[in-house]
Amino acid sequence: MATAAAHQTDSTAAFHSDDASAGADGFERAFDAAVAADERIEPRDWMPDAYRSTLIRQIAQHAHSEIIGMQPEANWITRAPSLRRKAILMAKVQDEAGHGLYLYSAAETLGASREELLDKLHSGRQKYSSIFNYPTLTWADVGAIGWLVDGAAITNQVPLCRCSYGPYARAMVRVCKEESFHQRQGYELLLALSRGTPEQHAMAQDAVDRWWWPSLMMFGPPDDESQHSAQSMAWKIKRHSNDELRQRFVDICVPQAESLGLTLPDPDLTWNEERGHHDFGAIDWTEFWDVLKGNGPCNEQRLTQRRRAHEEGAWVREAAAAHAAKRAARTARTTETTGATQA
Ligand SMILES: [Fe+2]
Ligand SMILES: [Fe+2]
Repeated sequence: MATAAAHQTDSTAAFHSDDASAGADGFERAFDAAVAADERIEPRDWMPDAYRSTLIRQIAQHAHSEIIGMQPEANWITRAPSLRRKAILMAKVQDEAGHGLYLYSAAETLGASREELLDKLHSGRQKYSSIFNYPTLTWADVGAIGWLVDGAAITNQVPLCRCSYGPYARAMVRVCKEESFHQRQGYELLLALSRGTPEQHAMAQDAVDRWWWPSLMMFGPPDDESQHSAQSMAWKIKRHSNDELRQRFVDICVPQAESLGLTLPDPDLTWNEERGHHDFGAIDWTEFWDVLKGNGPCNEQRLTQRRRAHEEGAWVREAAAAHAAKRAARTARTTETTGATQA
């Protein structure tokens, strides 16, 4: 049991314990009170079925995005322009695999096995972020992904560090630290290109032109069309709405684009003194829904590659399971022997 708040209220104490006498209604009331008091919900705590399934869906989708997201950038590892860039990119892609692991583990604490979740990904029953269905056409795309895609991910994920579900919130703390390294390496890569030859500058601009709008779509549909937002906010899984986070991201990116010497491909982008935010142009939601439905430029390629990687990795899983069984048998034998000697 752990709580985010310094101390627990009496009304939630029974819920965090295994005191079954509270009854179903009592548990629900205590759960609501714990959420209201900003306490963390932990794996063994009682939680509504819908809270559990919402979290499984969100964490699984997040985990899938991390591992599918390795593909567009891994595409450039062998063609990185220098040893330094290659080392940075390899580290970044490995980080994304690690993020997937933390998140699948977090989902496991809710009772969803990794095998089951991967199966849902491979059969198209669970989604990953649509941003990874766009291709990486030039080296500058690695920079644009770091700056914009990882940047949008951080904007989304920093508030998740305060998510009401403990294991997810804690995974996010480390993920966000690594994401901020990813964002900086992308920014630095784009800066080098922007200050390079006219061809390099043009390559950086072209990448930003292609990745800007899909990055804004990463925050999900507008608030009035977002199915799960209101309930997730009430449960404190989500802390800010899609539109709020998108606005925050735009406001962060505008001055950074200026420092990069690059422009954002939106003629309607202007500072609104009254709102204290940047106004920006209309997002093409038809494209968003279309890519989500599976018609993006790389949907098929990403899933095929993922299924192939899973099949090719079967021997690693088998070897790991055999090794674990061998170790467990050895430990059991040792315990038996030690036990026998002591007796
Ligand atoms: Fe990540
Ligand atoms: Fe990242």
